[in-house]
Amino acid sequence: MAIRHYLQFSDLTADEYAWIFQRAALIKAKFKAYEKYHPLADRTLAMIFEKASTRTRVSFEAGMYQMGGSVVHLTTGDTQLGRAEPIEDTARVISRMVDLVMIRTFGQDKIERFAAHSRVPVINGLTNEFHPCQILADIFTFIEHRGSIAGKVVAWVGDGNNMANTWLQAAELLGFTVHLSTPSGYEVDQSVAGVRGPASYKVFKDPQDACRGADLVTTDVWTSMGYEAENEARRKAFADWCVDADLMAVARPDALFMHCLPAHRGEEVEAEVIDGPQSVVWDEAENRMHVQKALMEFLLLGRVQG
Ligand code: CP
Ligand code: NVA
Repeated sequence: MAIRHYLQFSDLTADEYAWIFQRAALIKAKFKAYEKYHPLADRTLAMIFEKASTRTRVSFEAGMYQMGGSVVHLTTGDTQLGRAEPIEDTARVISRMVDLVMIRTFGQDKIERFAAHSRVPVINGLTNEFHPCQILADIFTFIEHRGSIAGKVVAWVGDGNNMANTWLQAAELLGFTVHLSTPSGYEVDQSVAGVRGPASYKVFKDPQDACRGADLVTTDVWTSMGYEAENEARRKAFADWCVDADLMAVARPDALFMHCLPAHRGEEVEAEVIDGPQSVVWDEAENRMHVQKALMEFLLLGRVQG
């Protein structure tokens, strides 16, 4: 089988997503029933973190152990990556010893270079440009609560960042629409997302207009990892891009609220929304593990049955 990497959401087809969502539901049901499922026995996942993480680390690490495999956790500080060993050499070495690699890093070019020199599949655990595993979990969570996302409207309120880029790719592939509202200067760059547009997304100056009639309202931190130097400027620019009860009120009455977490209550979202009845953020976080187990199974074993 040819190596498949998962570096951006557009690396899989709509048909493959349908398969992975179905497998994720089955693997989740096994987990809930305490049923042993060890398709990745003797397989090893290397996880390389160049940025902090709670969910990504725990979901990949726990998920891999639950599937019978093991993990190696690496950071920039405790590897030669922090002492300028080329990423290409690191990829050649690590991929001779493990079966799968997950990387969280800065520029997308870095993960692309790693993948180009890897003998094993590489998964994007977040870059400045994309966060495909998170959107995989978010769409699975939407399906669990509301059924198919095709034809639905997702309102994105806030930064035109890695999450926003990935939502655009998902909309184009899976047939839904993203309503984007970002402060000026923080718009999504269509060329980074690599989408044709504008059929799958619409841009709104006012976040109220973006949320009107939406099936899902979602946001993210004002300052992503790696952009901390812009913190003060962002605080000012994003002040009106906070998901509160007024914004949720113009969305559909059954609209869901999502946030990839970590969240800052009182900044991008008010506590009454994230801790309120429309919020599914804890399901989203848990589902990271279930969908990533299905993703790892697919990348290593293809379409397995049972
Ligand atoms: N949502 C997410 O990726 O969380 P972590 O940064 O904690 O991994
Ligand atoms: N956009 C955020 C997501 C964190 C999971 C960041 O890149 O820091």
